[in-house]
Amino acid sequence: MTRNASQRWFAWLMQKGEKVNRKLYHPYRKDLLSMAHGRVVEIGPGTGINFNYLPRDIEWIGVEPNEAFHPVLREQASRNHITLRLLTGDAQHIPVEDQSADYVISTLVLCSVPDQEASLKEIYRILKPGGKLIVLEHVAAPQHSFLRLVQNMLNPLNKALADGCNCNRDTASVIKNAGFRDTSLNSLQVDGTLPWHRPHIFGYATK
Ligand SMILES: C[S@@+](CC[C@H](N)C(=O)[O-])C[C@H]1O[C@@H](n2cnc3c(N)ncnc32)[C@H](O)[C@@H]1O
Repeated sequence: MTRNASQRWFAWLMQKGEKVNRKLYHPYRKDLLSMAHGRVVEIGPGTGINFNYLPRDIEWIGVEPNEAFHPVLREQASRNHITLRLLTGDAQHIPVEDQSADYVISTLVLCSVPDQEASLKEIYRILKPGGKLIVLEHVAAPQHSFLRLVQNMLNPLNKALADGCNCNRDTASVIKNAGFRDTSLNSLQVDGTLPWHRPHIFGYATK
């Protein structure tokens, strides 16, 4: 599949699966996203599923490289009365000024960025001192576990079918090593997802 076709397929898949996505992650999105305020930069907003949970008076900037999501994002933003500034960017090169964001949101995105360290460096760069990165991500199972072995085996197929999504990344460690003053990350198992996507982290990191 060409890159373009893979992106269009993935945008279609995410729209078809939005109801399930909403159901699976509702309590975590609700818990985390209500804290956002001021200038909020969301990387990989996809279908705009998080709009529903965000306060209305934020300044929202979306960095979504897959333009097949842009029409649905505009529609969802308008339905939720969110003023949007939508950029075709990449988490590894966020087109936003240094120290200008109060919050950065990443939900189910750090599994897909080609380079997590580079993305965390960018997130750190654009956050104001005291600003927060909010995360909800599916992650690798513990080292040497049977599930980790399965994740390692399935990762090439997972990436091919889900637009570059990796199921075996130790995202918590990368966040903890990114220079944040404080991190508060919880581990959880999300039932109802694919078994190799079940281990998750959610929480935040403060610059
Ligand atoms: C599984 S979807 C998650 C969508 C949404 N955030 C959610 O919580 O349902 C992954 C999203 O990350 C985006 N993405 C992939 N690579 C990216 C990158 N390098 N920078 C920013 N976003 C990226 C995809 O286009 C897609 O919107």
